[in-house]
Amino acid sequence: MVERLHLALKEVVDESYDILVGYGLLDRIPSDLKENPIGNKYAIITDSSIRGLYGERLLEGFREEGVSACLIDFPAGEGSKSLDMVGYLVGRLLREGVDRKSAIIALGGGVVGDLSGFVASVYMRGIPYIQVPTTLLSQVDSSIGGKTGVDTVDGKNLIGSFYQPKRVYIDPSLLESLPEREFISGLSEVVKYGVICDRSLFDYLESNVERIKRRDREALFHIIRASCIIKKRIVEEDPREENKRAILNYGHTPAHALERLSGYKCPHGEAVSVGMRISGWVAVRLGFWSVDEWARQNRLLEMFGLPLKMEFSVDDLIRALYYDKKIEGGKIMFVLPRRIGEMASINGRYKIPISEDDLRRFLVEIRGMD
Ligand code: GLY
Repeated sequence: MVERLHLALKEVVDESYDILVGYGLLDRIPSDLKENPIGNKYAIITDSSIRGLYGERLLEGFREEGVSACLIDFPAGEGSKSLDMVGYLVGRLLREGVDRKSAIIALGGGVVGDLSGFVASVYMRGIPYIQVPTTLLSQVDSSIGGKTGVDTVDGKNLIGSFYQPKRVYIDPSLLESLPEREFISGLSEVVKYGVICDRSLFDYLESNVERIKRRDREALFHIIRASCIIKKRIVEEDPREENKRAILNYGHTPAHALERLSGYKCPHGEAVSVGMRISGWVAVRLGFWSVDEWARQNRLLEMFGLPLKMEFSVDDLIRALYYDKKIEGGKIMFVLPRRIGEMASINGRYKIPISEDDLRRFLVEIRGMD
């Protein structure tokens, strides 16, 4: 005899949140959270390089406001994005008395945001968290949209969750302390937004290269705001990356493979720049994109001082591509531009399968142009 019991579970959740962008926001976070609380205690998680720069300042702000907070740090670097570090942070949170009514503040770049967001998603089965990104890359991309995770020996972000923050505070003045190479690296994600869905942002970038490179306040605010608007719209439309959100990964399929081949020593943004040149060429060769616009994209990346080439063997790169999360049924998937400001789709699907033979041919061609 079989008895069928049906557990009906239809959840309607509102995961909406505010993204605040403004110079000087860091010092206003404690008073804002006092007025609009997210928890009754805040655990600031940061890394060893941000702790002294901004962590202690933020903790002091909470003390001045009389709001309960603690500061926890871990060694800076991608190597910390591990399950071992999750265990370590859980222990620290417990010893600091962080409970289900508390909230985590992720203060740092992509590693801090991804790791702290993942810890928030599993600690006591999930507590709220807030993103306070301190790098250009995290301000325009990873702090928004709730992708959290850690790396394993097999690859980046292979363990993770979609877990949205409750608020994002973006203070562009924090970028003033960012090393030059890291700042430039983050610009590749901004160029990406221009190519994937905002032609006017692309034009603005072309006309303001020098202002942006010298971190002019108005120009920085403009590009960060424009990037956040694009990211927010795409996440609203497709929060779990069932289709459209994949366009945010333009250039990332080859970039992740290149990062893997470099032993993760190559900065993500630089790999994305090289990856956009490769993905763009695939788009040209498959007849989606014009060679003129591909060259225009590459010129802009170059004007920002981003690399367009990296040493790789075609065979190694193809092998590394099979570790990508976008592999579907063993097929390598790319997202490809149709024109600056618009991505190609086939039957409404943005991830486009590429045969290994085609890809090998295109990679050999691109190597021949170097
Ligand atoms: N960084 C790509 C995404 O959030 O979907």
